[in-house]
Amino acid sequence: MIFESHAHYDDSAFDLDREEVLKQCKEEGIETIVNVSASLDSVKRTLALTEKYEFIYGAVGIHPDEVGELDEASFEWLRKQCSQPKVVAVGEIGLDYYWDKEKHELQKYWFRRQMALAGELGLPVIVHSREAAMDTLAEVKKAHTSELRGVIHCFSYSPELAEEYVDMGYYIGIGGVVTFKNARKLKEVVKMLPLERILLETDCPYLAPEPNRGKRNSSLNLPYTARAVAELKEIEVEEVIRVTEANARALYFAGKGESPL
Ligand code: NI
Repeated sequence: MIFESHAHYDDSAFDLDREEVLKQCKEEGIETIVNVSASLDSVKRTLALTEKYEFIYGAVGIHPDEVGELDEASFEWLRKQCSQPKVVAVGEIGLDYYWDKEKHELQKYWFRRQMALAGELGLPVIVHSREAAMDTLAEVKKAHTSELRGVIHCFSYSPELAEEYVDMGYYIGIGGVVTFKNARKLKEVVKMLPLERILLETDCPYLAPEPNRGKRNSSLNLPYTARAVAELKEIEVEEVIRVTEANARALYFAGKGESPL
C-alpha cells in the first residue's frame, strides 16, 4: 500500500472536491497520508483534516516563506499543537532563497528554533530547501544529534549532497519531478540512493508527475512516481511501494508508540 509522505490537502486547490479526492485516494490504495502545514492557519486546517480522516496524519511547522508570522507567542502555540495525538512531524521548515520572501537570517533563526523543538519533542523534521543548498546543509549539520531524524523533502540537489544527508540518517523525499525527462540530476540521486532511504511524496497540489505534468497534483499520481523510481533502480514497482512505506512508517511512527495498522 502506498504511503503519501508529503501532501497539502488543506490547500484551497482542493476546496471544491477535497472529500471526493480523499475518498478516491483511499479506494486506490493510498493507505496513509501525512498532510504538511506551512503557516499558522494551515496548521489549524491540517489538524482538522487529521480529526476528520482516520488515514490522515499531520505535520506542524512554519515554511520559510511564512516565518514572518512567528513570534514567541505563536511559537508557544505551535509547540502545544505538536502534542496533538496525530501529529507525526515538525514541518515543513527550512530555507527558501528562490522566493526569498523573508530575510535569510530570519529564515535561519526559525529553522533552528523549529529543529530544536522537534528534537525536544522527539519528532522528526520535514525540511524544505530551495536554492539554499549549502546554508541548509550547514544548519542541519549544526542541529544534528543521534536522535534528530527527518526527511529532505522534494530533494533537488546533487547526489553528493544526498549522501551527506543519508550519512546523518536522513531520508530523501522523491516526488513527481523524477518523471520529468530533463530531471537528470534527480534521476542520478535515485539511482545512487539505497531504496531504504527513499520516501514517496507528491507535494500536491504542486509538481504533478508525467503524464499529468502541469495539472493539479494529488496522491492518485503516486504510482507514476513509484514506477519511475522502479525503472531507475531496475526493480519491481511493488518493491518500491513496500519499502518506501516501511521507511515512512519508521520515520513518522517510530516515536509515537502506536502502530496505526
Ligand atoms: Ni510541501
